[in-house]
Amino acid sequence: MNEMASPLVSLDTLSVHYPLGRRLLGGNAVLKAIDEVSLDIPKGSFFGLVGESGSGKTTLGRAILKAAPISGGHVRFADGEVEYDLAHLPKAQLRDYRKRAQLIFQDPYAALSPRMTVRDIIAEPLEVMGLTANRDETDARVREIAAKCRLNLEHLRRFPHAFSGGQRQRISIARALVCGPKFVVADESVAALDVSIQADILNLLKSLQRDLDLTFLFISHDLSVVAHVCDYVAVMYLGTLVEIAPTRELFEQPRHPYTKALLSAIPSLDPDDTGQAQRLEGEVPSPVDPPSGCRFHTRCPVARPDCSQRVPHLEDAGDGARVACHYWKENLG
Ligand SMILES: Nc1ncnc2c1ncn2[C@@H]1O[C@H](COP(=O)(O)OP(=O)(O)OP(=O)(O)O)[C@@H](O)[C@H]1O
Ligand SMILES: [Mg+2]
Repeated sequence: MNEMASPLVSLDTLSVHYPLGRRLLGGNAVLKAIDEVSLDIPKGSFFGLVGESGSGKTTLGRAILKAAPISGGHVRFADGEVEYDLAHLPKAQLRDYRKRAQLIFQDPYAALSPRMTVRDIIAEPLEVMGLTANRDETDARVREIAAKCRLNLEHLRRFPHAFSGGQRQRISIARALVCGPKFVVADESVAALDVSIQADILNLLKSLQRDLDLTFLFISHDLSVVAHVCDYVAVMYLGTLVEIAPTRELFEQPRHPYTKALLSAIPSLDPDDTGQAQRLEGEVPSPVDPPSGCRFHTRCPVARPDCSQRVPHLEDAGDGARVACHYWKENLG
């Protein structure tokens, strides 16, 4: 992939804060699911997003799909002539944007209506958005995308319960792609599948990416999968990004202590594993009242006294990597 590819999606100090209402003392407490995150997702990339549960991965993906409230900052989507500023998107443009950015659901069992045929499930977004002139045109489009998703066309008349998890996920993928999006959020899209089927679906996503010129935001807690399929990886901690790097760079030379701790939890990736993997201690602090300074300082094995006072921002760390840690250089090696 061309390293200079321009961004398809750019986040600029994006925040998603959920008000907690009067349930908490003070009344105006907010949960900072995403807090001032800036990020460029290069066009044509398979961009990984990792981090512990509750770090804000799904919320970030939903914000880009205009499905989570943007409390501050900007999300820009730019594809050739087309440009959207999602923080200020008129209703009339939202409909148009939905054609261009789509979600593949996590759970292929819950996502598909049991009462609709596979054909109708895949056709629904086309019909809702009025993108085809008549039934023949809809059918042609459904057959085309179903074939690309390697679904047996004979199966279009059946109901989803007749299928295995992997086939259902292909149906979900076809439905997400039928309107011809350029950007796709895949949120734990293979997590619910057997390992043998995961590989199939990942290969399918990669070939669709090339075929249809797609850009993926691939959200996963499975770092070995991310290492295998992603071009770039961004690491989230408590609503912020702590490191962004080309995949190989991130796995070979992690710079942030949090990234190092995440990676050391996958022994298979480390040939020199001495069995003394550095485990993350303690609970993730609350996003309602995150730690001062560096949010990771309360769990960081190499924190220094001023880490609780100064907020680190993402800085250039060489080889395409960016890291938010005051002492990443001191901890290299
Ligand atoms: N609609 C909402 N209202 C209030 N808080 C929310 C809402 N959606 C998410 N949150 C909170 O925002 C934070 C981030 O949640 P999110 O689902 O984005 O995390 P995640 O990284 O996707 O976690 P997981 O790996 O478990 O899927 C969590 O503290 C969550 O409880
Ligand atoms: Mg999630």
